[in-house]
Amino acid sequence: MKVYRVKDYDAMSRKGAAFLAAKIILKPNALLGLATGSTPAGTYKRLVEMYQAGDLDFSGIRTVNLDEYRGIQQEDPNSYYYFMNENLFSKVNILPENTHIPDGGDPDAQGVCREYEDKIERLGPIEVQLLGLGHDGHIAFNEPGDEFPDQTHCARLDRQTIEANKRFFPKEQDVPRQAYTMGIGTIMKARSILMLVSGREKAEILKKVLEGPVTPKVPGSILRFHPDVTIIADEAALGGGQAQ
Ligand code: GLP
Repeated sequence: MKVYRVKDYDAMSRKGAAFLAAKIILKPNALLGLATGSTPAGTYKRLVEMYQAGDLDFSGIRTVNLDEYRGIQQEDPNSYYYFMNENLFSKVNILPENTHIPDGGDPDAQGVCREYEDKIERLGPIEVQLLGLGHDGHIAFNEPGDEFPDQTHCARLDRQTIEANKRFFPKEQDVPRQAYTMGIGTIMKARSILMLVSGREKAEILKKVLEGPVTPKVPGSILRFHPDVTIIADEAALGGGQAQ
């Protein structure tokens, strides 16, 4: 596991974008695993700038996103589908048919999840999976529990996650209680993983991910068992911890 310590959110976003840009340049038809949330938004902004400068071509790139709220339609501004379009897809030359996100508007949880897992299997392997880190240690929507969920499944959101994500919704009751999400097994099959972490409020959980026991109580800790993980974190998130 390589941990890069950078000054702040902006530096994290620049390094994160450079990391992804290198993959895109080296493999123009790569399958990228993408993430949502405030953490990767700056990275997408940088990628768009590189594209506008003529330095990146997304025409052969294919993407699969980690997760989507269940019970939310694609055109809803709170859907991850909407987020991805706003932040990246509509701003670069990626083909819409090459982007994949679970359909939150489809209530058939079993069908959606099985189909999504099969799709990733068919399109894969994922070249690089981008990840953020939830306040309770979750990755995608794999919440702390007694075991690591293997495949794409319908997850129930924890209180802490609902609390953290309510800032995007008019009121807390509007935050969906369930989401379709890649499983830990799905994520671990990616060839490489890039995790971005920013801010003091993530310091305690990041320390557990990096140094605590590998346990489903801290889902992100499983990354220590993956052979190719890069973490780019800012000083606030790394607290006093060591990094190079
Ligand atoms: C959500 C997403 C995660 C994300 C996490 C952290 O729950 N499902 O993929 O990593 O939030 O979000 P943020 O980057 O906004 O802190």
